[in-house]
Amino acid sequence: MFKSLLIQAVIHEVQRIANTVPLSVPHCTTKDTELMGYSIPRGTLIIPNLTSVLNEEGQWKFPNEFNPENFLNDQGEFVKPEAFMPFSAGPRMCLGEGLARMELFLIMVTLLRKFKFIWPEDAGEPDYTQVYGVTLTPKPYCMKIQLRATQ
Ligand code: HEM
Repeated sequence: MFKSLLIQAVIHEVQRIANTVPLSVPHCTTKDTELMGYSIPRGTLIIPNLTSVLNEEGQWKFPNEFNPENFLNDQGEFVKPEAFMPFSAGPRMCLGEGLARMELFLIMVTLLRKFKFIWPEDAGEPDYTQVYGVTLTPKPYCMKIQLRATQ
């Protein structure tokens, strides 16, 4: 039970830091809209900034570092802050969220059970700079992968 909560926290933290779809998908206002004192006319292009919310100071215990504790409360239980929205929000949010989360869990757990992932000693510090496109991807890197002894 505890291990499965921890793996959920790790997967969510990977998604928060990976920030795969940084600007979501552009939307458009269908009527004149008032938001936090700003008037937004009908037909305005809206580009949601998911990067901002996934790193927002005050929303996360450790906004600027990789730390699965962002998803664990003081009792070590898994909690999902409202600011976790890599799949966006609202009526047009990602339709594939359930499938994507199930796949992330199954693939991650299967790989971790079968292999050890080792950062090579001579590889230096990891470079977290992302490659920008419609989606963000990591730069290519080398990793040592060892088959675990079968239990
Ligand atoms: C980690 C994986 C994924 C991430 C981070 C992701 C993220 C997103 C984001 C940010 C949007 C834009 C939502 C908006 O317009 O506000 C979106 C839309 C969408 N996604 Fe995903 N997605 C993922 C996987 C998938 C998968 C596996 C499927 C389908 C099998 C899928 C199907 C869709 C569809 C159909 C939309 C359009 C929804 C609409 O416009 O009503 N996504 N996704």
